Amino acid sequence: MLSTSEDAVELRRVAKRYADIVAVDYIDLDVKYGEIFGLLGPNASGKSTTLKMILGLVKPDSGSVKVLGINAQEDPVAVKRQVGYVPETPRLYEFLTGLEYLDFVGDIYAVDMSEKKMRIEEHLAALELEGREGDMINSYSQGMKQKIALISAFLHKPILLILDEPLSGLDPKSARIVKDLLRKLATQGVTTIMSTHILEIAQAMCDRIAIMYEGKLLALGNMEELRQKARLPGSDLEEIFLKLTGTEDIRDVVEALLR
Ligand SMILES: Nc1ncnc2c1ncn2[C@@H]1O[C@H](COP(=O)(O)OP(=O)(O)OP(=O)(O)O)[C@@H](O)[C@H]1O
Ligand SMILES: [Mg+2]
Repeated sequence: MLSTSEDAVELRRVAKRYADIVAVDYIDLDVKYGEIFGLLGPNASGKSTTLKMILGLVKPDSGSVKVLGINAQEDPVAVKRQVGYVPETPRLYEFLTGLEYLDFVGDIYAVDMSEKKMRIEEHLAALELEGREGDMINSYSQGMKQKIALISAFLHKPILLILDEPLSGLDPKSARIVKDLLRKLATQGVTTIMSTHILEIAQAMCDRIAIMYEGKLLALGNMEELRQKARLPGSDLEEIFLKLTGTEDIRDVVEALLR
């Protein structure tokens, strides 16, 4: 049984460098069970590296990562069993059909045969891939591949979802279906940590948001707390993001490009 008193994810003083690049700079992060948590930040600010450290795919140089009460470094397999992951550029087996791929992933996670079949069918139908599941993945559009990656993360009913840019490439209806699904799952206690550059989505979907910048956490909280932090009452997430990450002077940048 999971203890609900502890957080789903706990990072303490976690840091990661690549040679002289500081990818993640001593961050502390707690994500609660059932929360939809957004990780925002400019390109190269350390979002994907943070997500990979939560998954145990990248080893931090220092600090501790606890996921679902498990030390991710000591028992990465136990973590992976309960986690669904969609990387920012999913690598699928292009010469399998969508159905073969999902079947394969279901087997890796030891999903019961009849349940696997049912869940695959339901998800394919929900994301409007019915009729194309027998085609090879290399013939799919980018959005179709993203849908397969998402379904493969949901198949084994994970209690934690780590989604790196999950809605990228999805049409509005499919994005809406995924958003509603994540909301429903959250009410059942499933935790989602997602990175996104789509600030409207983060604002509408996430219970709390962390803004990363150059490997550090600049701000963390719900919309009201972020507004207070940025001293921008009544503002939307775009204004807060641009102020906190120092990128307000966009007009000057564009002007310079036009000179
Ligand atoms: N395997 C790697 N080898 C070398 N440098 C890396 C590696 N992975 C990440 N980095 C560097 O770490 C920094 C953070 O990268 P990361 O992928 O975490 O950023 P991000 O916030 O996810 O960016 P984006 O919004 O572009 O996806 C970048 O400077 C990147 O070049
Ligand atoms: Mg990234």
